[in-house]
Amino acid sequence: MPSTVLVGAQWGDEGKGKITDLIAQDFDYVVRYQGGNNAGHTVIHGDKKLALHLIPSGIMYDTITPVIGNGVVIDPRVLVDEMAKLEAQGISCERLVISCDAHIIMPYHIDLDGASEKRLGKNKIGTTRRGIGPCYQDKFSRIGIRVQDLLDEKIFRQKLETALAEKNEILTKIYGMPGYTVDQICEEYLPYAEIIRPHMAETAHLLNRAYADGKNILFEGAQATLLDIDHGTYPFVTSSSCCAGGACIGSGVGPKKVDKVIGISKAYITRVGSGPFPTELFDETGEKLCQIGGEYGVTTGRKRRTGWFDAVIARYATDVNSLTDMALTKLDVLSAFDTIKVCVAYKADGTTYDYFPMQQSVLYPKHVEPVYEELPGWYGQDITGCRSFEELPANAQRYVTYLEELCGVPMSIVAVGPDRDQTIFRGWSSK
Ligand code: GDP
Ligand code: IMO
Ligand code: MG
Repeated sequence: MPSTVLVGAQWGDEGKGKITDLIAQDFDYVVRYQGGNNAGHTVIHGDKKLALHLIPSGIMYDTITPVIGNGVVIDPRVLVDEMAKLEAQGISCERLVISCDAHIIMPYHIDLDGASEKRLGKNKIGTTRRGIGPCYQDKFSRIGIRVQDLLDEKIFRQKLETALAEKNEILTKIYGMPGYTVDQICEEYLPYAEIIRPHMAETAHLLNRAYADGKNILFEGAQATLLDIDHGTYPFVTSSSCCAGGACIGSGVGPKKVDKVIGISKAYITRVGSGPFPTELFDETGEKLCQIGGEYGVTTGRKRRTGWFDAVIARYATDVNSLTDMALTKLDVLSAFDTIKVCVAYKADGTTYDYFPMQQSVLYPKHVEPVYEELPGWYGQDITGCRSFEELPANAQRYVTYLEELCGVPMSIVAVGPDRDQTIFRGWSSK
């Protein structure tokens, strides 16, 4: 019966794919509940390395039913392509279930995402340009097109006609771009419908019945706490509810059915795209973190911005997600440093903050000065072979327990490399 929400505790790319894959075997269902193919989750499973964008990371196990929930936005072009790539690697997608209430990303959403970023110029969000924001915009304006609309060509055409009447005006008159015809989109999208149709289901019903039957459910978050539309660094966020509460909205499973919430944090921190980043390093230390950590985006290939671990953010993530556990990833990357800094508070304009400040302007370099604790490192010691906490160098153990004290939740998983087995369990239990 236990169910767990897994959520990014920073700005994304914390290693959610690896940890999902790692703990998935305890679950019967793995559910994506928000976001779309802006996500890039890396799963290394034996000799297979996968970058998953839409399909839940539990796809690797044939005992698991992977579910794309109602809160996800689906680009059918990407979905069909991802399914084909998995099948080509011998991973069956037959069990994949897709909510008929999920919204569909249309070609004009992608155009509008790019055009809006161009218009914003230096104030751009730095989106993945996958059409995510414009698709959610239509969902909340109640003019979106859902997966179930693909079941009936007449309805699909009608909805498309209504949407295009507005979108073509915006594309052609505001942005000087070409518009679309209903036929043009139907020609591309209706064949996708044939591939998706056997996977469509009432997923809220399915998951609630599964829960009642004593099945275990894992909700796999995409993006992260600080990219959440409400709790993130708005407007430099994504357009969905990435936090743990989003798992209920994006799946139709109520909060009383969530037993555990595990937050994923890197042993340092990264961010892709624009927006404030108090511990960002602009020097060679930041560059070293980037190179050793291989910090390049899985979806867009963009270089990630890097910085020291920020405990103010970790505490905030603990609060807004009700974390019961934390998984710390990429501890091995810190073997390259003599000493390691941890931000325990911010100083800005004469005030010290040990909590996330109300006014976001405080978080910009002009104001913020991170208050660091400097800890001795375990320079040059390869920890990628450690499989128990006791095998870690004393200073690495101290680093983990220090972060644990700062966050206020147990660090029950510590990752020391990208592979599945490069992991230390410190009391994680899905029960
Ligand atoms: P996600 O979006 O949260 O799933 O994370 P990404 O897949 O975008 O980025 C995480 C990257 O770190 C991937 O390349 C993983 O293979 C890698 N990774 C995960 N855990 C570890 C770890 O403990 N050590 C190292 N060195 N790499 C890791
Ligand atoms: P995973 O699941 C890191 C960022 C973009 C941009 C902002 C808005 O792999 O952790 P969007 O295209 O969503 O409108 O872009 O959010 N972003 C991510 N950053 N990891 C992700 O996903 C991200 N998904 C979106 O870079 O700053
Ligand atoms: Mg990622």
